[in-house]
Amino acid sequence: MADILPPNMLNERPRTPAGLLSNQEKDRLIERGFLGLYRWYTARSQETRNWNPDRSFDWRHMNQNLPPEVITIIQGFFAVEQYAPDFTSNLVNLVRRSHGRSHFQLRWGSEEEKHADAWENAVLFSGQRSPAWIAEYKDRLRSQTWELPFPDAIHNLVYTVFQERATQLNYLNMMKIAQGRSEKPHLRGVTDPVLAKVAQTIAVDEAAHYNFFLEGVRMYLYYYPERTLEAIKNVISQFSMPAATLVPNWQEFYETVYRAGIYGPRDFSRDVMQVAFRNLGIESRKALEEGIRKTREVPDFEGGNFKTTAIWDTFDYGAVEGDVRRLHVKIQDYEKGIGFDLYDPTEFVENPEVPKKPGQAADD
Ligand SMILES: [Fe+2]
Ligand SMILES: [Fe+2]
Repeated sequence: MADILPPNMLNERPRTPAGLLSNQEKDRLIERGFLGLYRWYTARSQETRNWNPDRSFDWRHMNQNLPPEVITIIQGFFAVEQYAPDFTSNLVNLVRRSHGRSHFQLRWGSEEEKHADAWENAVLFSGQRSPAWIAEYKDRLRSQTWELPFPDAIHNLVYTVFQERATQLNYLNMMKIAQGRSEKPHLRGVTDPVLAKVAQTIAVDEAAHYNFFLEGVRMYLYYYPERTLEAIKNVISQFSMPAATLVPNWQEFYETVYRAGIYGPRDFSRDVMQVAFRNLGIESRKALEEGIRKTREVPDFEGGNFKTTAIWDTFDYGAVEGDVRRLHVKIQDYEKGIGFDLYDPTEFVENPEVPKKPGQAADD
């Protein structure tokens, strides 16, 4: 059709080639996915993770003789988590037009706020910091504001995937120390069942957060592979834990965490990046960078979306499609339980740009 149009009419052709989803339609599908996921998440959060930072722990029986390193670490955990209002307000603002995402961020914020209160209780009941010291510390932290690490929604979404997984890992390793399972000589023999329960309870929340954001990134990866892979590449190239520039004596905290065997660059690479990559069908950082480089070499013809042909080799799109389908089945089951399906069920719509695996029927 293009070759019979006079040149001055070329701009009037529809930007979306026939048979492909428009960006508007993709955005609508992603929004529906987020909305369904958010409602499922909220119900599950209330049913299974409805703990309270004061009442759920036997604070009076916290170990009063924890080593100073452990106190430094708990204090740092508290410092990061107490920026929950900044994290939440910034993220809500960024995604305020999306019902599913903005309401989720409120729910998420209410969970992060519990983490801050639980860690503050742990600092207090350790008996090693006075209430006056804690008040002053908090005042110092609150005099600064946490800002978004990236200007746009997709980069921040990707960032939170890595950040939630890293946080979960930090807390699981703290739990291990409090259970007396540390391999480090200076922490051997430390036990505190109260602290172990706090770390474990919060780690379970962080795992749920990780999963929510991961499902979101999968949807973006499925409908917008190129810009999502770019965002992943950018985020991992400059990843650091939130509030690293705001917390006083961050370096001391970071080194203590590292020496305790809780978290360091190797843990990030092996237990954060590789895990998230596996969950996103990306083989390795090298494969990701290589794929993006190859995609850039393919010319972008006349506004068509031909560039995406090379991008599909960068990740396991079949696995990601399977995950997005499974997410929709989970949402549909939830909606059937309520009766939403009678009015407006969330449907999975295939992205027609996704190449077919050999042997798969075109309209399968
Ligand atoms: Fe948290
Ligand atoms: Fe979290």
